[in-house]
Amino acid sequence: MKRRIGILTSGGDCPGLNAAIRGVARASYELFDAEFVGIADGYKGLIEGDYREMKRNEFSGILTLGGTILGTSRRPYRNMRVIEEDNIDKVAAMKANYKKMKLDCLVTLGGNGTHKTANLLAEEGLNVIGLPKTIDNDIWGTDVTFGFHTAVDIATDVVDRIHTTANSHGRIMVIELMGNKAGWLTLYAGVAGGADIVLLPEIPYNIDSVIASIEKRIANNRSFTIIAVAEGAYDKAMADMKRKARVQALKDGNFPSVSYYLADQIQGRTGLETRVVVPGHYQRGGSPSPYDRILSTQFGTYAAHLIKEGNFGQAVAMKAGQVSHNPLIEVAGKTKFVPKDHQMIQCGKDIGISFGE
Ligand code: F6P
Repeated sequence: MKRRIGILTSGGDCPGLNAAIRGVARASYELFDAEFVGIADGYKGLIEGDYREMKRNEFSGILTLGGTILGTSRRPYRNMRVIEEDNIDKVAAMKANYKKMKLDCLVTLGGNGTHKTANLLAEEGLNVIGLPKTIDNDIWGTDVTFGFHTAVDIATDVVDRIHTTANSHGRIMVIELMGNKAGWLTLYAGVAGGADIVLLPEIPYNIDSVIASIEKRIANNRSFTIIAVAEGAYDKAMADMKRKARVQALKDGNFPSVSYYLADQIQGRTGLETRVVVPGHYQRGGSPSPYDRILSTQFGTYAAHLIKEGNFGQAVAMKAGQVSHNPLIEVAGKTKFVPKDHQMIQCGKDIGISFGE
């Protein structure tokens, strides 16, 4: 059986993308007569017809490589059906290029936005399979996404290292971690790094409670406090505001992001020396951890089996420790947030972490 497969990576990059590409390709070459077309820079390349034939040897030597050999870009899903200034009908262009490439199937590696567009293309009649990548771990229907655990390792290292300098100076250190609207990365790195206060978007924080936790530590002769705050976290006072309005409120206050606002609140009210650390894209860089290399390989090879079976319109997933899949239509448009009663939150509380409630 011959199958011609288009492959693209879309949205923010993360470690493990190349390992997953390799997994799809190597297993496909083993399972059937496979041909690969690499599409450049995500859906942008599919829209613009920027693609190339790939040779088998291009999938070797990339297991440990960070980023993506295909390139990536962000193409907001909300604009996919909108004709913009360039006058291009993006959906029609993607369908036309799929046809032009003579594809039997398109494999998309990406996060929530990528899955939404993958589903749109599936609804338009294309054979699509999605693989869940993101450091945010916020894709519905999968226990874990590849890239997440490498980011947890990196973010944990940041929290670890901040401990020594925080201790030397007796400072409050506010570490802002990525994760978009979800708190997974902050929760995991906060617990793994031994943060004292962990603030998540899923639990709007009460500044009085944050300050009470800092004061309690001082009363117990702990001169420093480490706060891990998710980039999407916000103050209870802002809980009723829409996301856009919250971002605007921070801007109006000259705060580049929530961690600066929080640091200002803390220093203003306690007089304690407070510093902000924003590791940013550092959390997405470099080589995937062994965990992510394995996960990416598992997801990639599973996708090759779906292609062989002709089981399209699916999103690969990990369910209770088993690699599996969900219909793309079920995944599209949903976000997996940290449930407030998640075991890890209880675990954190049990060891004295404050969630700023
Ligand atoms: O989705 C991954 C992610 O790193 C988020 O955690 C973060 O909010 C966002 O991407 C940053 O986007 P960009 O790379 O476009 O600045």
